[in-house]
Amino acid sequence: MKKILITGGAGFIGSHVVRRFVNKYPEYQIYNLDALTYAGNLENIIDVENKSNYTFVKGDVVNEDFINELFNIHNFDGVLHLAAESHVDRSIEDPLAFVKTNVIGTINLLNAAKNQWKDNFEGKRFYHISTDEVYGSLGIDGLFTETTSYDPNSPYSASKASSDHFVRAYGETYGLPYVLTNCSNNYGSYHFPEKLIPLFINNIINNKPLPVYGDGNYTRDWLFVEDHAIAIDLVFHEGKNHETYNIGGFNEWKNIDLVRLLCQIMDRKLGRKKDASEKLITYVKDRPGHDLRYAIDASKITKELGWKPSVTFEEGLEKTIDWYLNNQEWLQNVTSGAYKDYYKKQYL
Ligand SMILES: NC(=O)c1ccc[n+]([C@@H]2O[C@H](COP(=O)([O-])OP(=O)(O)OC[C@H]3O[C@@H](n4cnc5c(N)ncnc54)[C@H](O)[C@@H]3O)[C@@H](O)[C@H]2O)c1
Repeated sequence: MKKILITGGAGFIGSHVVRRFVNKYPEYQIYNLDALTYAGNLENIIDVENKSNYTFVKGDVVNEDFINELFNIHNFDGVLHLAAESHVDRSIEDPLAFVKTNVIGTINLLNAAKNQWKDNFEGKRFYHISTDEVYGSLGIDGLFTETTSYDPNSPYSASKASSDHFVRAYGETYGLPYVLTNCSNNYGSYHFPEKLIPLFINNIINNKPLPVYGDGNYTRDWLFVEDHAIAIDLVFHEGKNHETYNIGGFNEWKNIDLVRLLCQIMDRKLGRKKDASEKLITYVKDRPGHDLRYAIDASKITKELGWKPSVTFEEGLEKTIDWYLNNQEWLQNVTSGAYKDYYKKQYL
């Protein structure tokens, strides 16, 4: 039986990866390591908690002794590393927290894996999940490919870029078998409502303002989270060692156009008058160092591993909105008192 460690499995993307691996691979023993920060929530994975091939471990990747001990006890065959501080605005407030979790946490895992596997790397794999934000900002045209130089602009993307470099350095220096993916913006169920799509769905439901940064012309590529989980499964099992794959939705949207589309769908679903939600749009002071445009060229993973998104943006957005409308209790539970203070400071 293979023992697989998934970190950050109580978070947004991690919960989808945990669910997929636990259900699809009953022959694997899946360990989900998560510190349960504000972004981690056991309710996100409640449906797998009693499965016999699943174990939850509460712990911090920054704690070196704890990580070494965990590897000594369990002797993992593979690691899928998703635990991270992930919100750009929070990284502007507190960069050091991002260095600790994203850089030091990653190095602790790399060291533990290297030390445990160094005598025989056969059949072992360290999979680092990263972001397209490491590439910096694009102008109005062009796409990020796997060979685009790193040029991060926010403390978040700088910390992820640093962790990516360490993963590759462990591959080159110690021969650690790794794969790495850089993915565009995800959307879907269980997304903490500080990120654009769940935040705006929540605000529309509650008739609250929709704070759009700057002039709303920032452009992002969007991918349905379940398609990201499928890609992660594929790369973990079929990707080549020491390779990087870009993952994207072939789906670029200006923020303001996306918000308008969201408003239209929400008005229809909530039986509100046409344009009712658009009236909630308010433009707020821009985020410092805001990248104009991200867009991914995902042709390598398509050509080499046969992956492409399975749903269109409209289908994915409908599914996402339906999920939030049917899970308003989850929304209320995760928007705790601490989050309300953060929200006030950020937007009001
Ligand atoms: N969300 C996106 O659009 C996106 C896109 C590309 C890549 N990524 C990457 O995917 C990964 C997951 O992103 P997400 O959006 O699911 O993030 P998230 O913030 O929703 O979840 C992160 C999880 O990590 C846990 N965590 C945080 N610090 C920890 C620590 N010190 N020790 C152990 N656990 C800790 C949290 O409790 C949470 O469950 C991240 O590495 C992120 O950089 C995200």
